[in-house]
Amino acid sequence: MSFDVIIGIIVLAVVYLLASPIYPMLAGGAAYGRTPREIAAEALTLADLKKDEVFYDLGCGTGEALIEASKLCDHVKGVEIEPIRWLIAKLRARKAQVILGNLFKQDISDADVIFIFQYPGRINNRITMKIKAETRSETRIVSYWHPIENMKLVRRQNKIFIYKT
Ligand SMILES: C[S@@+](CC[C@H](N)C(=O)[O-])C[C@H]1O[C@@H](n2cnc3c(N)ncnc32)[C@H](O)[C@@H]1O
Repeated sequence: MSFDVIIGIIVLAVVYLLASPIYPMLAGGAAYGRTPREIAAEALTLADLKKDEVFYDLGCGTGEALIEASKLCDHVKGVEIEPIRWLIAKLRARKAQVILGNLFKQDISDADVIFIFQYPGRINNRITMKIKAETRSETRIVSYWHPIENMKLVRRQNKIFIYKT
């Protein structure tokens, strides 16, 4: 391999690493932050996720919540827009369906429990509008870290907020 090709690969890798936090924000979501596995487990217990229910993590990152949800339920789906995180989630959360794509374009009408760890204000409001428009009234929404406006808070524990539409 020539020196030029190696330099080209390194430049591309650096550009990708610099762009990857910004890229999801251009698509209307948050940059990457990880929910610790024990918090994800606690959140799913609080949301009372059941075996036959359908679970989504909208913006699933590297799959922490998907792995925990797969221990409790048979229909686990994650949507991630950033290809490297999507691949890591796909390899880690083997029992889940991990979709590479934009959460705003995902059909979520079959959701029973939706997990989000996004940003407060405009981003969560946009996701909230989608959830309200597409899901049933009994669907539970779990937001880690940030509260959501215009939804009925049913439980709260530390930074875990559980809502119904
Ligand atoms: C704060 S991280 C949370 C990751 C994971 N849910 C967790 O709790 O560990 C937000 C994730 O949402 C993804 N994301 C942002 N906007 C998105 C969009 N429009 N569609 C799909 N994923 C998106 C980001 O790439 C990032 O991995």
